[in-house]
Amino acid sequence: MSTRYLVTGGAGFIGSHLVRKLVTEGAAVRVVDNLSTGQLDRLKDLQESVEFIEGDLADDRVSDEVADGVECVFHQAAVPSVQRSVDDPIATNRANVTATLNLLESCRRAGVRRFIYAASSSAYGDTEVLPKTEAMSPNPLSPYALQKVVGERYCKLYFDLYRLETVSLRYFNVFGPSQDPYSEYSAVIPKFISALSAKKSITVYGDGEQSRDFTYVDNVVDANLLASKVDDAPGKVFNIGCGKRITLNNLIQLIERVLGVESTVIYAEAKSGDVRHSLADIALARRILGYSPKIMVEEGLRSTVEAMENRRS
Ligand SMILES: NC(=O)c1ccc[n+]([C@@H]2O[C@H](COP(=O)([O-])OP(=O)(O)OC[C@H]3O[C@@H](n4cnc5c(N)ncnc54)[C@H](O)[C@@H]3O)[C@@H](O)[C@H]2O)c1
Repeated sequence: MSTRYLVTGGAGFIGSHLVRKLVTEGAAVRVVDNLSTGQLDRLKDLQESVEFIEGDLADDRVSDEVADGVECVFHQAAVPSVQRSVDDPIATNRANVTATLNLLESCRRAGVRRFIYAASSSAYGDTEVLPKTEAMSPNPLSPYALQKVVGERYCKLYFDLYRLETVSLRYFNVFGPSQDPYSEYSAVIPKFISALSAKKSITVYGDGEQSRDFTYVDNVVDANLLASKVDDAPGKVFNIGCGKRITLNNLIQLIERVLGVESTVIYAEAKSGDVRHSLADIALARRILGYSPKIMVEEGLRSTVEAMENRRS
């Protein structure tokens, strides 16, 4: 019988790409999502191949139900918004910490073999040193960042105490098709692409010289699959990025080139708590997981624009 996978948050941006890849590989996939930010539309052509359970993982009856009979879990479910966590630390703690602990406990009891956790580069905060390596101490600057670090620590503890094979992947600024450009909390790339396609101006907070290690979603999916298989991965935390950073001003130029348009940029006051530069050291993931980013920013932007145009038409 083939491995049975659970993808939590499978109706979300990253989760749905992971589900699609697993289904393509012929795996049996169960998805749980409470549809808070997720959209079932992302899975509509996969309905026949996926077992979908609508439920909230902060409810332990749901986590028990979905962990049953599963061999490997990809835990993507979260409320991935710094701003929302600042506005409502309690509700986001429930989604990001309580739900994670419930799921770890359900997995331990159900005898799940491996548990891959979607951690976040926000763990590093605004440390001056670049690139960020996993050996640096976390310095979370928002409830969201802290909640994601707590999730990692619980994962490590479940490996040390109970030998549940947990692996944490710290994603760096993920982008790609089906990322929601209209959400209040949306990442800059879908927001910029949709504004530029509609010939609207874009707003940049700060001088645009802040930089990020933007990571195309297929690279993140690859990293998850590797983390589910490699013997030496459990108990560890890995950076998952491209190992290259670009500034927002460069990013805008790239999007202009891909779309063949010119932009009007409005520079507004920098947001407090905004990290100035972010860059992943991916040496550990390369060495232990065999991870190597296959799609770099410009190619990823082309695929994202194409997908957004197809969706519109
Ligand atoms: N997008 C990024 O750049 C990025 C960077 C670092 C880490 N991450 C992490 O990756 C994961 C996926 O992020 P995304 O960008 O795809 O976000 P997303 O909002 O598109 O997906 C999250 C999914 O989880 C679901 N969900 C939320 N709370 C739930 C709960 N209590 N029970 C069941 N389902 C619940 C939502 O409905 C949604 O479908 C998150 O854990 C996030 O913290 C994302």
